[in-house]
Amino acid sequence: MCGIIGYNGKKQVEPIIIDALTTLEYRGYDSAGMAVTNAKLNRTDVYKCAGRVKDLEKVCESKTIDSTCGIGHTRWATHGGVCDANAHPHSQGNVTVVHNGIIENYKDLIDEFNLEGSLKSETDTEVAAAVLNYYYNETHDPKKAITKAVKRLRGTFALVIMFADIPDVIYSIRNVSPIVATLSEEGAMLASDLTALCRFTDQYFVVPEYTIVELHKDSIAMWTLDGKEMQPEYLTMSWEKNSAEKNGYPFYMEKEIMEQPKAIRDTIAGRTKSGIPNFEADQIPDSLFTECERICVVACGTAMHAGLVFQSLVKTRLNMHIEVELASEFMYSDPVIDEKTLVIAVSQSGETIDTLEALKYARRKGAKSLAIINVKGSSIARESDYVLYTNAGPEIAVASTKAYTTQLSIFYLLVYKMAHIRGIMNDDEVRECIRNLKRVPEVIGSVLDEKNAIHVIARGVLEAKDLFMIGRGLDYSILQEGSLKLKEVSYIHSEAYASGELKHGPIALITDNTPVVAVVTQTRLMSKELSNIREVKSRGAQIALFIKADLMQQSTREFDTFVLPNLPDELMVFPASVALQLLAYYVSSDKGFDVDKPRNLAKVVTVE
Ligand code: AGP
Repeated sequence: MCGIIGYNGKKQVEPIIIDALTTLEYRGYDSAGMAVTNAKLNRTDVYKCAGRVKDLEKVCESKTIDSTCGIGHTRWATHGGVCDANAHPHSQGNVTVVHNGIIENYKDLIDEFNLEGSLKSETDTEVAAAVLNYYYNETHDPKKAITKAVKRLRGTFALVIMFADIPDVIYSIRNVSPIVATLSEEGAMLASDLTALCRFTDQYFVVPEYTIVELHKDSIAMWTLDGKEMQPEYLTMSWEKNSAEKNGYPFYMEKEIMEQPKAIRDTIAGRTKSGIPNFEADQIPDSLFTECERICVVACGTAMHAGLVFQSLVKTRLNMHIEVELASEFMYSDPVIDEKTLVIAVSQSGETIDTLEALKYARRKGAKSLAIINVKGSSIARESDYVLYTNAGPEIAVASTKAYTTQLSIFYLLVYKMAHIRGIMNDDEVRECIRNLKRVPEVIGSVLDEKNAIHVIARGVLEAKDLFMIGRGLDYSILQEGSLKLKEVSYIHSEAYASGELKHGPIALITDNTPVVAVVTQTRLMSKELSNIREVKSRGAQIALFIKADLMQQSTREFDTFVLPNLPDELMVFPASVALQLLAYYVSSDKGFDVDKPRNLAKVVTVE
């Protein structure tokens, strides 16, 4: 959702802001803007418009911007429609702000501070600017003004603030919505997202909540609300410098699909010892896995789908009680949670507010928590008792791909670990599983080598309005993700069904030439699965079959078929998922869509 950048240094700020906002485009937005210090005239100049960062560039083109200090924003509309006036930054008096999050009590504040008539936009953000301005007029002190103002704000916010008469400092404060910052030779910077900083430095820190940050040209200061100075706790980014760039691919989604062998290798690396899963380096005690009696996974979208695969594995391998909950529904569904529950929060960004709130709720109920996260130091990672990072590198495309398969990799390690320490699998059995897991990158590599064959299958569904995906067992778990992927990027209405469920209703939707994607990788379910495929075929469906090589037989050659390279059935989710990702990708790119930025979607979802 909204993106933030702030820079105070020696260089001209305009290109830095434009560049960073372009990097942040993937988060999803509808307007862009920037505010820069105009030191000569002792004022803050604001440039903004509805539309893309390119449109903002055009707005700035005709102006002479000479400044080395400024803030930028990409807005995802929440309060007020998409128009120039509602774009950030917003100014009131001396104060100019950009904001991520939602000020829930903005209506009350309008009444209380008598703002009706003085606001130029419909946003909650401008109200925050007005409250800050009120306290600045009262105190003439930026820190005191911020302290007083934030005590009046309810909701989530990352605010970045400029005062017109303090032209050489940028201020920031946050609650829940993230801000990361860094000091490099170029100057001091902050952003809503690491991807905007990673080309400048690999050192950064997460701004703690309710801490005032001051960005000076060559230093950063931090203060608690009661005036104590704080030192930033720097982290090192593990991402390579150019890892947030497209590197020759037309879309990030393709690049990220292609990166999966490496991402999975990097995720597994260092997490086995003598062939047995080992989380010592992650500082996770074995007791976390031996003491829990039930598991509950909370996550959204793709991350939740990774949880569904884990659910199957836990049932078959551990015979344990497990629930996988949509984080947005979790706390309203009276979940059974206690000290014996291990809650696993899964999130690529680590900032999804639904998942964060679900995790907080579970912890309040006494559950132990483990987070599976891609972005280091993110809010969910910090909220959880323990963290396992997926080492996928930055994922920029809105449609999650390498995050999913790296989350799966962690889940497989977890299941084998738990089966081992609970005495369900012996050393040799676990070693055999890990050996096979380590073959996954190479096997995915051979699916990627055959991507043109999937492109051909994709051409067959380009005109589809509705499409169905069918499978059983683990295949059904991954089809829910495959179907989401196709929906997101191709706008084709797609539904995943357990094949055995078709006859209980959905088969009524199958008519002549209805495309049906079937995945068959589970040996014990194959014959039933093939019967289900024939049921829909005989009603006119056009079948695209993704089948494990060992399960191919003469009769399956009648369909458009992609043969998946062999792995043990339990691990076939990997090649099959990658094939479905490619299918979605090619349908979207052949339709000429902006694959990386599907309509209405944001990469980081920070509103409930
Ligand atoms: C993935 O393709 C989606 N865009 C979306 O479902 C995503 O997985 C979900 O919003 C959760 O995001 P997170 O992993 O960053 O928490």
